[in-house]
Amino acid sequence: MRHHKAGLHGQIEPDLFPEFVVVSEHMRSVIRTVQQIARFDANILISGESGTGKELLARIIHQKSNRRDKPFVPVNCGTLSGELFESKLFGHEIGAFTGAIRQTKGRFEQAHLGTLFLDEVSEISPLNQVNFLRVLEDGCLRRIGGEVPIKVDVRIVAATNKDLAMEVDAGRFRKDLYYRLQVIPMNLLPLRKRNEAIPHLVNYFLERFAKIYQKQRVTVSSEAMEYLISYDWPGNIRHLKNLMERMFLMAQGPVIGLDDFPEDFMVAAPEPVEKPGQESSDPGAPPFNSLPPGAVEPLRKARQRLEKTLILRALEMTGGQRARAAELLEIKPRTLRQKMSDYSIEFRRTGKRALAKSQEGGPR
Ligand SMILES: Nc1ncnc2c1ncn2[C@@H]1O[C@H](COP(=O)(O)OP(=O)(O)OP(=O)(O)O)[C@@H](O)[C@H]1O
Ligand SMILES: [Mg+2]
Repeated sequence: MRHHKAGLHGQIEPDLFPEFVVVSEHMRSVIRTVQQIARFDANILISGESGTGKELLARIIHQKSNRRDKPFVPVNCGTLSGELFESKLFGHEIGAFTGAIRQTKGRFEQAHLGTLFLDEVSEISPLNQVNFLRVLEDGCLRRIGGEVPIKVDVRIVAATNKDLAMEVDAGRFRKDLYYRLQVIPMNLLPLRKRNEAIPHLVNYFLERFAKIYQKQRVTVSSEAMEYLISYDWPGNIRHLKNLMERMFLMAQGPVIGLDDFPEDFMVAAPEPVEKPGQESSDPGAPPFNSLPPGAVEPLRKARQRLEKTLILRALEMTGGQRARAAELLEIKPRTLRQKMSDYSIEFRRTGKRALAKSQEGGPR
C-alpha cells in the first residue's frame, strides 16, 4: 500500500518509506541512519518500548539493503524455550531427538543471504547465547545431530524492549554477544517523547482505515486531538493505531470528539474510595481526589496517579499475582511489569501490602 499524501511524511521522500510515518526530528534522524547503513552488512540492535515500530524498522532496513530480494526471517526469542529455540534456529537432522522425523532447516539457514530478525533478543537462554555467538564467529552452523558445518551468510537485526546493556551488567546477557549484535545501535523513542508526531499519525491512520474499510473519512476534533497529544501512550504507535481503527469504525459522523472516546481509554476520576481529608491506604499513591478543590494539574500527571492507584489496588486484590492483576486491569502482564517499574512499585507476593518506593507517583 502506498500513501503519498503531502505533509504526512515530512521531508523524507515518501516513496522511499511507504507505511512509515516520519514527521518528528527523531524519526528523521532514524531514517537518515537507515539510509546510511542499510546497504552494509553490519548487525543492528534496535531498542525501544513495545509498539514503537522496531519490527517495522527492521523490515525497512532489510528492504533498503542489498539483501532485499532474499528472505527476511523473523524469530521471536521470547516465545521459545531453550531446546525448542535451538532446533528452530539451527534446524536438526533426522533422529536428532525423539520426534525428529525429518531433516529440518533452521531459521538461520532460511535467512541465508538475507536478514534474520531476532525479536526480544534479551530472552535468549545463556546456553543458546553461546551457540549463537559461535555461529556469528564461525559463519557456519551445525544442525542439531548434524556433523557437517553449513556456511551461512546472514545479517542480524535484533530488537529489544529491555535495556540490553543493563542485562549485560546484571549478568543475564553475554557481553561478547551484545557487542556482536549492536555494531549499529538504534533507539526508537516512546511516542510520548515525540508527541509532535501524533496529529500526523492520527490523520495517517484515519485515512488509511478509510481506504481499507471503504468507509467515509473521519477527522478528530481539535479538543480530542489535544487529548491524544497529551496522552502518554503506554503501548506507543500500536496503541494509537488500534485506537484509531476502533474510533474510525465506531464513528457516528465525520468528526470524532472527546465524547466519542471509549470509556476504557478516557481516564475519568473513579468513585472516591476515601472521604476527602481521610488518609490514603496506599502510602505511595495519593488518592485521586487529593487535589484541593478548584486546582488543576496536567492530565498526564493525573492519569499517572490514577494508574498507580489502580495498579496497587489490583495487586492488593490479587495478593500480588501479577498475571491476575494484569487481567483485571485488562493490560498485558508485560505492560504491568513495565508500569510497576516506571512507578517503582514493589509488591511481594505473600505480603498483603504494596510497597511503593517513590512518593512522586509518576514515572521518570
Ligand atoms: N513510524 C510509523 N509509521 C506508521 N506506522 C508505524 C510506525 N511505527 C510503528 N507503526 C505501526 O505500529 C505497529 C507496531 O509496530 P511494531 O510491531 O514494529 O512495534 P514493535 O516495536 O516491534 O513492538 P513490540 O515490542 O511490542 O513487538 C505496527 O502496526 C506498525 O505498522
Ligand atoms: Mg515487535
